[in-house]
Amino acid sequence: MRGKNIIIGICGGIAAYKIPQLVRLLKKRGASVRVALTDAGARFVSELALATVSEEPIYRSIFPQTESEGVDFTSHISLGEWADALVIAPATANTLARLSAGLCDDMLAAIFLTLRPGKPVLIFPAMDGQMFLSPSVQRNIATLAAQGCSIINPESGELASGLCGIGRMPAPEAILLALEEALHEADKCSPLYSKRVVITAGPTREKIDGVRFISNYSSGKMGFAIARAAAKRGSIVTLIAGPVHLPTPPGVERVDVESTAEMNAAAEKFFSNCDLFIGAAAVSDYRPAAPYEGKMKKDEEHIELTLVKNPDILAGFGRQKSASQLAVGFALETRTGLESARKKLTEKNLDLIAFNFFDRKTCGFDVDTNILTLIGSDGIVTELPQLTKDAAAEKLLEAIEHLCLKNGL
Ligand code: C5P
Repeated sequence: MRGKNIIIGICGGIAAYKIPQLVRLLKKRGASVRVALTDAGARFVSELALATVSEEPIYRSIFPQTESEGVDFTSHISLGEWADALVIAPATANTLARLSAGLCDDMLAAIFLTLRPGKPVLIFPAMDGQMFLSPSVQRNIATLAAQGCSIINPESGELASGLCGIGRMPAPEAILLALEEALHEADKCSPLYSKRVVITAGPTREKIDGVRFISNYSSGKMGFAIARAAAKRGSIVTLIAGPVHLPTPPGVERVDVESTAEMNAAAEKFFSNCDLFIGAAAVSDYRPAAPYEGKMKKDEEHIELTLVKNPDILAGFGRQKSASQLAVGFALETRTGLESARKKLTEKNLDLIAFNFFDRKTCGFDVDTNILTLIGSDGIVTELPQLTKDAAAEKLLEAIEHLCLKNGL
């Protein structure tokens, strides 16, 4: 569950009162949880309880409740992109009908439509036994199952009506187990599952003397987002990070380095046994030829610093990689640098390069968003819009997954 993004849709059934417990269990296991609550659901479980346990706002309508909430009418889309799985529990007869018909009249129904393909949807119908067995409900369930949703039948036992029969929602622990299994299966569907992925990220520092260095503005955010996205797919990820102030993504092995030479030495250890090497680091191209021991004095009016070229880590991997290994790089250029990115793709023997430019506001170094153009060695060019670095990482990995499938990897 670590690092997984889960959306729980809660409908208007008495079993809704158990969902805060499910949220707790998921959070304890390291998942991020967001809740989409239907109007009827809100009559059975409080928004405040759910917001407290999930530590997130609760999503109800696709429209802001008040004008002052702003004019973001697209959160159903970003939520659909964000989620690794959607759990609908309890699912009422009404919501089953809405979902099977493709209605989009609240946030839960909208997220159901915007969820990315291949992401598990687990539906836990819970209602009176006779309602559950009615031909209409069964028809809607069959439609949703045919679309690929996992329908988990309710359990038999005492019902809210006092009757005994089928209709009870499974306990939160059972829902958690079903979700874990579904996510595990979904991960295995990615060609990156259990692949060894090595990623370089962040800047490097090249010593001038004991206290000064040459570096750049790279924050490492892009490389860390890629590591997070790969780990979520079940890859075995090693992140070789220059000096950055970012938490290690869940499930990722991190190697901290400072200089290009150190990054190169750390990376070379993985060259022969990794399946995918992604150079996302903004590596210093040059280093001072002879760093001064101690602190340089400022007695001179002019000083000259002789720089020597650093090894190109990614090109080193590109030179020696086998047919079953993939190399992916970044090319940070000016806005018009697409040709230069293409040149790097060929010169460094890469399978894919992500061209980006820097304007210090929307893309490039040290900002939270990026605008990537992906260029494959097969000539396919994919222009992505401005995305968060997490969303851009997802798109990059989707393109790499295509490459894996195309190359039978
Ligand atoms: O600096 P350049 O534009 O050539 O970087 C392109 C790609 O090569 C990036 O993915 C970067 O991480 C990688 N690179 C590297 N070692 C270097 C320079 C760049 O791995 N010394």
